Amino acid sequence: MSKQFYITTAIDYINGRPHLGHAYEKIITDVIARAKESEGESVFYLTGTDEHGQKVNQAAQDDGKSTSEFCDLLAEEWREFSKILKLCNNDFIRTTEPRHTRTVQAVLNRLKEANELYKDSYHGFYSTKEETFLTDRDRGPDGEFDPMYGEVVELIEENYYFRLADQQDWLIEHIESNPDFITPSYRKNEVLGFLKNNKLEDLCITRPAERLNWGIPLPFDKDYVTYVWFDALINYITVPAAHGDATVLDALQIDPLESERGKTSLWPADVQVIGKDIIKFHAVFWPIMLKKLGLPLPKKILVHGWWQKDGQKMSKTTGNVVDPIQVIKDSGLDAFRYYVTRELDIGPDGNWTDAGFDARYQAELANGLGNLVNRSLSMLNRYRKGIVPPRSEDLKEDAENCIKAVRNALTEYRLQEGLKHIWKLIDRTNQYVDQTAPFTLAKDPDKAERLGETLFNLVEICRILGAMVEPFIPETSSKIYRQLNREKSTSGTKNLAWSDWPEAHQISKQEPLFPRKDK
Ligand code: ME8
Ligand code: MG
Repeated sequence: MSKQFYITTAIDYINGRPHLGHAYEKIITDVIARAKESEGESVFYLTGTDEHGQKVNQAAQDDGKSTSEFCDLLAEEWREFSKILKLCNNDFIRTTEPRHTRTVQAVLNRLKEANELYKDSYHGFYSTKEETFLTDRDRGPDGEFDPMYGEVVELIEENYYFRLADQQDWLIEHIESNPDFITPSYRKNEVLGFLKNNKLEDLCITRPAERLNWGIPLPFDKDYVTYVWFDALINYITVPAAHGDATVLDALQIDPLESERGKTSLWPADVQVIGKDIIKFHAVFWPIMLKKLGLPLPKKILVHGWWQKDGQKMSKTTGNVVDPIQVIKDSGLDAFRYYVTRELDIGPDGNWTDAGFDARYQAELANGLGNLVNRSLSMLNRYRKGIVPPRSEDLKEDAENCIKAVRNALTEYRLQEGLKHIWKLIDRTNQYVDQTAPFTLAKDPDKAERLGETLFNLVEICRILGAMVEPFIPETSSKIYRQLNREKSTSGTKNLAWSDWPEAHQISKQEPLFPRKDK
């Protein structure tokens, strides 16, 4: 089988509730996956949960549950969350699944054989909040660790290390000669700055099982479990291996589990979407792990910024959070998907305000897209019994320019820009309605032909919009197609061109896309 477009999100720690940041990451990944599908590509989208480590272990204890019982309950909630967001993910990985244990242990065996792991005494510190090892070099000028690390405890214990030292030259070279490997470019520069100004030290990758038992045991030393990050990153190749990806199976020397060898071809990932806080793990540790396993590096690490609410860090303790599930209940999934993609470009940090959300809902969704589709189709139903008139080309050029611009933007994962182009066409078409005034033309029998032309342009723009908004707001796209009485399977941007209607096609009744919200 030929290689699929493989796209991943970070996997979430399950100790907290899904919030705006998690939703955002999954939605932008979903938009990219759907945009690729819309271009006729075969896509595999992976998301999931990160369930090992001290943080989850502690949360389970605080909750008075066994850790595995706690994980099963919460993982279900997170899986449900991906359904609420209507993600088109093809698999959902839990790091507590046997298929994952198996790949992690194969990775450890291969690295051990290659003499990439060794045991030594560790003296340092551990932040449970960020699940990260720290040393004295991580202290700030005041001698303290950054408050983001929460409580930091000193560790003195024997552990296994993964050899990282001396790996930075090839990595710098790889990043510099593949300028699209880490995007946006300021994130790339951040990684390069880190690699050029620091000497990489070998990475501690275990915890003694007597201190932390919630992890994957080392296959060659049962007294140790793997460090949660080392385990978590491997999820991205666990799923390819399980589905029969020969590249990964050969490197790890294992057999497929869920389908035949060679049935699926996924690795290397085409895009790995992550937030800015976990860039070092993905752009430094992960590439080195892959290289030492003889696996190709992902083609792109796409780094998004962080959301705040009302200009402040979201925090459970102050109650300053956006609950995506509540927003979706109140305003609909597509309004939420639209807002987060339109408001924040992939890269910088963003700020959620309820007022901003309401304003875009009203102006861009209800009055913009919703109103255009509603008045276009209701006029066609009223003046022509819903029969699509013969072809006309008033808005052909506008539409074609828009399609081209949107496709270009999406090729480079500039989702916000794609939406801006689509809304330019919506504004242009709303203007066209005002200029051509079909409701006035309808009063004059001599203008019947002109009325038909106008109505054709409007219904055709609705069809084109229905296809172009699909990756962003798929339910709305379905609603538009339903009103047009067309199969959605005929949508997609790849072959989208002006005027594609069967003879004397009749549309259905119109239904409102974005109802006005009563406060
Ligand atoms: O880091 N705005 O999990 P996590 C935007 N398990 N994105 C945000 C955000 C915010 N306010 N808060 C979090 C982990 N995120 C690890 C990942 S991957 C092998 C292991 C993003 O639950 C964050 O940047 O803390 C990350 O990409 C994702 O949510 C999961 O964060
Ligand atoms: Mg985090």
